Amino acid sequence: MRIYKTKDYNEMSRKAANIISAQVIMKPDAVLGLATGSTPLGAYRQLIDWYKKGDLDFSETRSVNLDEYKGLAPSDPQSYAYFMQENFFRHINIKPENTNIPNGLETDENLECRRYNSVIKQLGGIDIQLLGIGNNAHIGFNEPGEAFEKETHCVRLTEDTIQANSRFFSSMDEVPRYAYSTGIKNIMQARNILLIASGTAKAQALYRSLFGPITPLVPASILQLHSNVSIVADEEALSLILEKGLL
Ligand code: GLP
Repeated sequence: MRIYKTKDYNEMSRKAANIISAQVIMKPDAVLGLATGSTPLGAYRQLIDWYKKGDLDFSETRSVNLDEYKGLAPSDPQSYAYFMQENFFRHINIKPENTNIPNGLETDENLECRRYNSVIKQLGGIDIQLLGIGNNAHIGFNEPGEAFEKETHCVRLTEDTIQANSRFFSSMDEVPRYAYSTGIKNIMQARNILLIASGTAKAQALYRSLFGPITPLVPASILQLHSNVSIVADEEALSLILEKGLL
């Protein structure tokens, strides 16, 4: 595991974008595992900027997103499909047919989960999986306590996550209670993993994930077992780890 310490959010974003762009340059048809949340926004902005300058080409790139709220249509501004469109896809030359996100409108959970797993398999697996981290150390929507061996599944969100994500909605009641998420197994099968974190709110989750016991109670702790993980985090997110002299 490599840990890159950055001074702030902007430097974290640039470093993460550098790692992703290296992947796209080395393998133009790479399969990018993409994430939502506020953390990756800066990295997406940087990638868009390099694309506009002519330094990056996404015409052959494929993508699979980690998760989607169940019940939300892609046209819903709170959906992750909408987020990806607005914050990344519509600004670059990735082909819409090469982007994949779980279908929030599919009510048959088994069908949607099976479909999404087979999409990932047909793409030949994920070359680099970008991850944020929840305050409770969830990755994707893999909440504490879920089995590590899961593939795409329908998740009941924890109160913690509903509360944290309510900032994007007009009220707590509007936050969907369920989501489709790729599982820890899908994430661990990615050839490379890039986890990004910023701010003191993530310090505890990051410390427990990187230096604590590997347990489903701390979903991101499983990453300790992956052979190609890069962590890019700013000083605030690393504050507990730095304080303990572990870095
Ligand atoms: C959501 C997403 C995660 C993301 C997390 C943290 O729950 N499903 O993929 O990592 O939020 O979000 P943020 O980056 O906004 O802190």
